[in-house]
Amino acid sequence: MAMRISNKILEGLIKQANRELSASADYLSMSLWFADRELPGSAAWCRAHSEEERNHGLKIFDHITKRRAKGALVQPIDHAAKFNFGQPVDVWKFALANEQTNSSAILSLVKQARDENDFVTENFMQWYVQEQLEEETAVMEILENAKRVAETNGLYVAYDTQIVTKPH
Ligand code: FEO
Repeated sequence: MAMRISNKILEGLIKQANRELSASADYLSMSLWFADRELPGSAAWCRAHSEEERNHGLKIFDHITKRRAKGALVQPIDHAAKFNFGQPVDVWKFALANEQTNSSAILSLVKQARDENDFVTENFMQWYVQEQLEEETAVMEILENAKRVAETNGLYVAYDTQIVTKPH
């Protein structure tokens, strides 16, 4: 009984797993953008976060497998067009917008699971609900600091050295 899963929820979980992998690719590209501009602190944070996002995706695929549901597939997205940033603050704005979109998708999936009385999926997704709060908070803090640096004509390169120690 616990394994039972509707096609709609399965499709939602597969989409969410792919969103996480897409977020992983985005953070890796952000990391490369920062590395190109000799900003190793920001590059390291994004690289570590890329790994986290990958694990979020894998965790969902593992859950699908555990429920003996079939048809999960990795569906790569073309990211190249998105990385046309001018300033570091643009990158962090992009990251926050992505996290907010991801939170909405997760909350929709939880709602859908609740509507279907799929308590297993609802319970599984609770981890992601909490994680999104942590991630939105972490990225928002970095973005706010980066904005302040820009507004006060500070040196982002000095702030960059602190970013490695920031939470994820
Ligand atoms: Fe796993 Fe940042 O969402």
